[in-house]
Amino acid sequence: MKEVKLTDREKTIELGEKVGQQLKAGDVLVLDGDLGAGKTTFTKGLAKGLAIPDLIKSPTFTIIREYHDGRLPLYHMDAYRLENGGAEDLGLEEYFDSDGVSVVEWAQFVEDELPAEFLAIHFKRTDDENTRLLQFEPHGRHFEQVVTEL
Ligand SMILES: Nc1ncnc2c1ncn2[C@@H]1O[C@H](COP(=O)(O)OP(=O)(O)OP(=O)(O)O)[C@@H](O)[C@H]1O
Ligand SMILES: [Mg+2]
Repeated sequence: MKEVKLTDREKTIELGEKVGQQLKAGDVLVLDGDLGAGKTTFTKGLAKGLAIPDLIKSPTFTIIREYHDGRLPLYHMDAYRLENGGAEDLGLEEYFDSDGVSVVEWAQFVEDELPAEFLAIHFKRTDDENTRLLQFEPHGRHFEQVVTEL
């Protein structure tokens, strides 16, 4: 497991961008960590790495937002509101098997739906207001490679 310390918001965006540049169709990333830990901020960088021109907004209330103007489609999901169930009804498998990249915040609420290969990233706040710890946990060769390149 690789751990990275990011001392400001920009560094989190830069790291997201590096990851985004390496992604391919069908990739699934699952992000977990407290409120404000940086999951959406990281996804903004990831979108940059996919050359998506749009502003990335948190999908907390819509659960899923789709972006189709980049190198690959991005499906950005926030399962926070699925704490009490309902993940089965979202049709996640169709997103995961698609030609796009799926990023799921609060992925612990959809863990029964995950594919065999995915990249889990755990976000942690620290005593310093602007510092975050990210732990990368790759499942499968492709994601091991992605993490090695960071
Ligand atoms: N090093 C850092 N990396 C990321 N965000 C940081 C960092 N330092 C400060 N921040 C701030 O922390 C906040 C992170 O918010 P963000 O929406 O990305 O969190 P989140 O994990 O998506 O939360 P939620 O669970 O509510 O969706 C932002 O206001 C951001 O500016
Ligand atoms: Mg968020």
